[in-house]
Amino acid sequence: MLADRDRVFTNLYGEYDWRLAGARARGDWDGTREIILKGRDWIVNEVKESGLRGRGGAGFPTGLKWSFMPKASDRPTYLVVNADESEPGTCKDRDILRNDPHKLIEGCVLAGVGMGVCAAYIYIRGEFYNEAQRVQAAIEEAYEAGLVGKNACGSGYDIDVYLHRGAGAYICGEETGLLESLEGKKGQPRLKPPFPAAVGLYGCPSTVNNVETIATSPAILKRGAAWFSSFGRPRNTGTKIFCISGHVNQPCNVEEAMSIPMRELIEKHAGGVRGGWDNLMAVIPGGSSTPCLPASICGEVLMDFDALVAEKTGLGTAALIVMDKSTDIIRAISRLSAFYKHESCGQCTPCREGLGWVWRVMERMVAGNATAPEIDMLQEVTKEIEGHTICALADGAVWPVQGLIRHFKPEMQRRIEEYRTTAPRQAAE
Ligand SMILES: Cc1cc2nc3c(=O)[nH]c(=O)nc-3n(C[C@H](O)[C@H](O)[C@H](O)COP(=O)(O)O)c2cc1C
Repeated sequence: MLADRDRVFTNLYGEYDWRLAGARARGDWDGTREIILKGRDWIVNEVKESGLRGRGGAGFPTGLKWSFMPKASDRPTYLVVNADESEPGTCKDRDILRNDPHKLIEGCVLAGVGMGVCAAYIYIRGEFYNEAQRVQAAIEEAYEAGLVGKNACGSGYDIDVYLHRGAGAYICGEETGLLESLEGKKGQPRLKPPFPAAVGLYGCPSTVNNVETIATSPAILKRGAAWFSSFGRPRNTGTKIFCISGHVNQPCNVEEAMSIPMRELIEKHAGGVRGGWDNLMAVIPGGSSTPCLPASICGEVLMDFDALVAEKTGLGTAALIVMDKSTDIIRAISRLSAFYKHESCGQCTPCREGLGWVWRVMERMVAGNATAPEIDMLQEVTKEIEGHTICALADGAVWPVQGLIRHFKPEMQRRIEEYRTTAPRQAAE
């Protein structure tokens, strides 16, 4: 189990004061000036060495992403913090925003130096009203204390930090949809290239990073890359906030070392599966867009990027949705299909038309009112949708269906058979 001294997020549960005085007592804003003075290259190298990979879902190496920002630019350059957190099952950024906002703001300053930006925009999910209040209050405290703004921390570096509230659309979490929304337009993702590091916010070089990614960076820069990479395993380093929900005895958010086995994580921190481990049916390991894993795989699988990819799923946002044997797994996945259909922005035909089709077929699969070959057709259609759209919303929509077919096809076939043999009789009665 991770020792308290190794936790990055020391106020995850809101036990202590989230304001500047409390944050300072926990070590935030301590030595920030000295790190700023070490300069851009030192910061980027340290983050690269730490092995930190983006915590927003895709796991892109953070230091490398920062290094894409131009060293010389005739236009302003920006950091954009993605606080849209809308992936079902995921509620980690929310705890950082409401309980540790200064860690995020300090991260904006240090990441800002690493990329040479003049401003950081925090785009926060519209429903996070209370969190927005706190982040705004923390920003104001930081300005008053001279930690951000002109000559931040007395270092000579100028950076402004702004908070922007979204209006409640999942697609605005996609980084270029977010940029459009921040510019005051409809949140419809942009074609890439050009990537945001070349043409981002207001047409200027920009980097979009997740809240947890940015809020983790001060700890790395203060304690060193070697400390961070001592957790987990190569390519999968550091500590990570896991969100554990569903059929567990104590749903929770917990910071643990990366690569912890899934069973250990659930049993140590979430009080185990309701009714015991043998009552487990499946786990969605990384937020609702990652394919589920059946109980037979869940025990020993490591909770990290590479181990979960090897099992044809992903770490995603590290949000585990645990389902015991009482679950109607076909219905559960169909419910997710309904969510993604609803959230499609409608730009791309495979997503706009395809996700509605997938959901309608899934609803028939729930009832069993389908034919066995339609399971294969459903699989084929998901393959036609995957990779054929501007952004990854459609990929994330069809992966859960593919996971269902991969691991629970016999259950789908059984239900069709049951419907075939009982439904006509029911109708006649
Ligand atoms: C449909 C969709 C929704 C997304 N929602 C979020 C989100 O709510 N928060 C987030 O940090 N990343 C989200 N992402 C990922 C972002 O596009 C982007 O990869 C991420 O913010 C990069 O940050 P990182 O490198 O720190 O992980 C979403 C992606 C897609 C395709």
